[in-house]
Amino acid sequence: MPLDLSRFDLNRIDAEFIEDPHPLLHRLRAEKPIFHNADGSVYLTRHADCLKVYQSRDMLSDKTEAFGEKFGRCPLHTHHTTSLIFNDPPYHTVVRRLISGAFTPRKLAEFEPLIAGIVDRLLDRVEDLGTLDLIEDFAKVLPTEIISFMLGIPEEHRAQLRGYSLAILGALDPVVPPERLTEGNRAVEEFGAILSDLIDFRRRNPEGAHQGEVLESLIFGEHEGRRLTQEELVQNCIFLLNAGHETTTSLVGNAIGLLLDWPDQHRLLLAEPGHIDTAVEEFLRLESPLQIGNRLAGEDIALASGVIPKGTYIHTSIAAANRDPEVFPDPDRMDITRKPNRHIAFITGIHVCLGATLARVEGRIALGRFVQRFPKLAQTGERSRVPLARFRGYASLPISVR
Ligand code: HEM
Repeated sequence: MPLDLSRFDLNRIDAEFIEDPHPLLHRLRAEKPIFHNADGSVYLTRHADCLKVYQSRDMLSDKTEAFGEKFGRCPLHTHHTTSLIFNDPPYHTVVRRLISGAFTPRKLAEFEPLIAGIVDRLLDRVEDLGTLDLIEDFAKVLPTEIISFMLGIPEEHRAQLRGYSLAILGALDPVVPPERLTEGNRAVEEFGAILSDLIDFRRRNPEGAHQGEVLESLIFGEHEGRRLTQEELVQNCIFLLNAGHETTTSLVGNAIGLLLDWPDQHRLLLAEPGHIDTAVEEFLRLESPLQIGNRLAGEDIALASGVIPKGTYIHTSIAAANRDPEVFPDPDRMDITRKPNRHIAFITGIHVCLGATLARVEGRIALGRFVQRFPKLAQTGERSRVPLARFRGYASLPISVR
């Protein structure tokens, strides 16, 4: 059935779009690569245009004004306007420098045995269960454990993290019902209180163990003589915890969903496990955990598809860019050996994902070991998607491994 582009608006998307956005995204990319929403914002779907926006220093991430209109003054507003992702230099540079010290390749190499240990422990449980929900029983546990370890979150708080994360990130969707705002505000307050206590404890006990190293560099680190305030610390820790687990949970869940949909590729990965690195890139491309980005044009920007004037609010469709036939031959087909694979699931430019290497390591270890250990993977019930446009992942994926 032909899709009616004149009725599309990013601020009024429906369940069908969330289920499978690609029929519409292909049409937009081919016919209206700069799509104008009713509120004056634009939605970009071509790889080259999205790339140029991300690489331009004139495209701004500061959302103080946009979130002021969306949220009013409330905890969600404080959170999202204080985290580094929604800020520009110089504040963005200060926080990014402090965090990035903890994400160097050397530091990450230290985490590999830890990740492998957690994965194997979880896989033992998967084997015992036999029939399980991949998301609940596997995908969400690993990233929560890793990022909690890096920030030193005590065991008793870890189970609450995904609920907080979904409530806070859910408020970023283009359309947010009032009950979701209430949940998001409550999550920021509760999560903030836990972190504030933890930060106070760390300040009083600075000689920390290996656990919680990221938190220590945030509390005690300085960039050009500037330290983070308590509010900046709390909000950026909330952000790190959210960034560090929701997207990686989706990477693992989406990957298993894709392998179920593409049995020939599943068989190939089983037969030739050496393809795991390119397979992870292909999972990230086809089902990008973060589907939409935003920037405000601080200056006019000339894209291949047209000029966008200064002051325009831009939505970049990472999902559409990653299936652009100009860059990816046969873009809807899964090819776990695809190379090159210039997807922008982690974007590019000054806000390029700080956790990309960690996410890749987690994906490689978790998915590589899962696939080899359970060759008899089968789906046992209906899958359901997380009902958000910005984040693509499964809420539930029932499987059997016997
Ligand atoms: C598959 C998993 C992941 C995906 C797809 C992903 C994707 C992204 C994307 C697209 C951005 C840029 C957003 C923007 O500016 O518009 C971003 C930023 C960021 N990500 Fe990730 N991410 C993942 C995992 C992680 C992990 C594991 C961590 C940390 C533990 C992390 C930490 C961050 C941070 C700190 C930023 C902000 C960087 C900045 O503003 O300078 N991410 N991520």
